[in-house]
Amino acid sequence: MPAVVHLAEIHKIYHSGEVPVHAVRGVSLQIERGDFVAVMGASGSGKSTLMNLLGCLDRPTKGRYLLDGTDVSQLEKNQLADIRNQKLGFVFQGFNLLSRTTALENVELPMLYGARKLSSREMRDRAQKNLELVGLAPRADHFPSQLSGGQQQRVAIARALINDPQILLADEPTGNLDSKTSVEIMGVFQKLNAQGITIVMVTHELDIARYCKRNLIMRDGRLVSDVQVENRLVATEELRKLQEAEAAAKLTD
Ligand SMILES: Nc1ncnc2c1ncn2[C@@H]1O[C@H](COP(=O)(O)OP(=O)(O)OP(=O)(O)O)[C@@H](O)[C@H]1O
Ligand SMILES: [Mg+2]
Repeated sequence: MPAVVHLAEIHKIYHSGEVPVHAVRGVSLQIERGDFVAVMGASGSGKSTLMNLLGCLDRPTKGRYLLDGTDVSQLEKNQLADIRNQKLGFVFQGFNLLSRTTALENVELPMLYGARKLSSREMRDRAQKNLELVGLAPRADHFPSQLSGGQQQRVAIARALINDPQILLADEPTGNLDSKTSVEIMGVFQKLNAQGITIVMVTHELDIARYCKRNLIMRDGRLVSDVQVENRLVATEELRKLQEAEAAAKLTD
């Protein structure tokens, strides 16, 4: 089976300012189905630019990108939008939920723009199923302001999964969360990954990257390191340890 992502000598040069910015400088990369990749690197090293390219939100200036065997490097904007709807799901740092709609309606939203036309009953059922998947079914009727940061991020993940994407792309999905909530979100990702979905996420945090299977490091637009994670952390185990530590602290109060 071909790699789900195959980048060959990808470059991205931004021409928006007076001086062109060479944000990605010749990245070649293969990601197999079922992989779980963390992209790390200093601020400005090109992580988000690379994610935008992977997510077909932007086109490379040079180089080839095969997504699931299809060359998407030269597609037009509307073709890229179709590919995004069919194959990709996105989770961002700020959740990007609509504040005046419930958790359930937020999850339903991408289906309104999806290629497949579903009845409102079908949309509701699928949204409900996805909220269950991320452990948020009891909060389906809540508005984002009534949810914690971690719960809002779960809604965003449920929404990203609604069109059955092959790849989930997440830029700093735990960036706004405390450390325990971050581990919970990594638990959701590990569960989804175990079900076969490929995940690529950006993180600044080394300990968060240890929940992934593979770690990439970017520097000045280049990929400078690509390693398999040894002694991978398992979120359910780490959460159990945290709970035990909390309980022990209460006993000694
Ligand atoms: N739309 C744009 N126009 C011009 N330059 C840009 C644009 N987006 C990003 N850049 C530049 O490209 C380089 C890489 O930016 P990018 O956002 O990919 O970095 P990053 O690794 O995600 O950083 P951070 O960790 O701060 O999010 C930076 O020098 C940035 O200023
Ligand atoms: Mg960034």
